[in-house]
Amino acid sequence: MSKQIIRPARTISGSLEVPGDKSISHRYAMLAALAEGSSEITHFSAAADCRSTLDCLSRLGAKIDVQGARVHIIGAGLDGLRKSRRALDAGNSGTTMRLLSGILAGQEFRSTIDGDASLRRRPMRRVMDPLGQMGARIKARDGGFAPLEIEGTRLSPIDYTLPVPSAQVKSSVLLAGLFADGATTVVEPVRTRDHTELALAEFGAHVGHEGRAICVHGRPHLKGRLLAVPGDLSSAVFFLAAALVLPDSNLVIHNVGLNPTRSAILDVLGTMGATISLVSIRSEHGELVGDVAVRHSPLQGGAIEGDLIAQLIDELPAIAVLGPYTEQGIEIRNAAELRVKESDRIAVLAENLRRLGAQLEERPDGLRVAGRSAGQLHGAEIDPRGDHRMAMAFAVAALGAEGETVIRDAECAAVSYPDFFSTLERRVER
Ligand code: S3P
Repeated sequence: MSKQIIRPARTISGSLEVPGDKSISHRYAMLAALAEGSSEITHFSAAADCRSTLDCLSRLGAKIDVQGARVHIIGAGLDGLRKSRRALDAGNSGTTMRLLSGILAGQEFRSTIDGDASLRRRPMRRVMDPLGQMGARIKARDGGFAPLEIEGTRLSPIDYTLPVPSAQVKSSVLLAGLFADGATTVVEPVRTRDHTELALAEFGAHVGHEGRAICVHGRPHLKGRLLAVPGDLSSAVFFLAAALVLPDSNLVIHNVGLNPTRSAILDVLGTMGATISLVSIRSEHGELVGDVAVRHSPLQGGAIEGDLIAQLIDELPAIAVLGPYTEQGIEIRNAAELRVKESDRIAVLAENLRRLGAQLEERPDGLRVAGRSAGQLHGAEIDPRGDHRMAMAFAVAALGAEGETVIRDAECAAVSYPDFFSTLERRVER
C-alpha cells in the first residue's frame, strides 16, 4: 500500500487540466453502449470508477476500444446488450452500480452486480424500490446491499418522487425509463446534477422538464455520437483549495465543466472571499465548459446547509479541510448523506482533521471546524480509509501545515484522479 509524503509548500501556480468529468464519462459510456452505431468520446475520465463502467459494459457485449483518454464504443442499440457470464464488478463506484442497475432492470436476462468492500456497505434500497415498482425483481444482501441480483423485464413507466436528493437514483430511474413503454417521470424536490438529462438529449432521447419533474419517453432510438468530456470540477476543486491555502498562489485550470448544477462550490468559495474568475465559457453537448482562474485570497468561512448540500456534495471534503485556513471556521449542516459515501466522510474528516491539530465538533449531519485562531495545523499520519476524496483533501490541508504529513494508502486517489499527487507536486513551490 503506497504512502504519500506531503511537505509544506510556499505557493502553487501555473496552469493545468484535470481529467474528464467522472459523472459525465459514466453516462456517455452507458448511453453509447445503448445507442445504434459508433460513438467516440474524448477526454474520457481517467478514474478507476469509469474503468469499472467500461468493464461492465464490455461484459454486457458492448464493443469498446480505449486509447488513452479516447474511448470508442460500438453500441448495438437499446436491445443489444447480452447476459454477462460472470458477475459484473462495479469496483468502488456507486454511480456504476446504481445507474447500471437501471439499465439491467430493463433487460430480458438476469445479472449480478457486485463491488468492493466500501461499495458493499452503501445503501442500494434507494434504487431497488423504484426499479421494483417498474417491474424488475432485485435481490440484495441483507435486503439492501450489494451484491445485487437483478432479474430484468419489460418495464412499466412510473412517476417517482425522490425521497433522498440523489442524481444517481434519478439517473437510475431515467435510464430504466428508456426500456419502459410510455413516459417515466422523476420529481426531485431538491435539484441535483443534470448530466443524465443532458446526455439523454444529446443521444436523441426525448426528455421533458416541468418544474422539478423530468420525464423521459421509453424506447427511443439512440444514435452514436462524437463527444468531448469537460474536465472534472470536483477534481479541480482540490487545486482551487490548494491555491486558497497557500499565499501568493495564482492558478488557471483549463476546460473545466461548469454545469450550473455542479458549480455551486465556486459561488460558495466566492462568497467566502475567494478570487475566482471564469473565462472562455462555452457550451459543449449541452454542458457549460470554461477556464477557472483562482488567486490566493483570505477566506472568511461560514456555514453550508440546506438545499445547497446536494449541489456540492462531492466538494464538502475540500471545503471542510479549508476550515482551519478561514477566519471564522466552516460549519457543514444537513449533510448526513456524507456518512454513506465511499467512506463515512464526516467521521473520516473529523478523525484526520484532529490528527492535524484542528479543533472541531462532529455532529450526526455534519461538522464545525474552527478557523485560524485555533492555531496552525501540524503534520500527521492520515488514514483516508480508502476514500479518494479524503486522500486528496488531506494532501491539500497538509500543504499549509507545519512539518511533514504522511497519507496512508494514497493510491486510492486513482478512484477519481490517478495523477493527482504528481500533478500537485509539479505545481507547488517550496
Ligand atoms: C453522482 C452523484 C452523487 C455524487 C457522486 C456522483 C453521479 O451521488 O456524490 O460522486 O454521478 O450521479 P448521489 O446521487 O448519491 O448523491
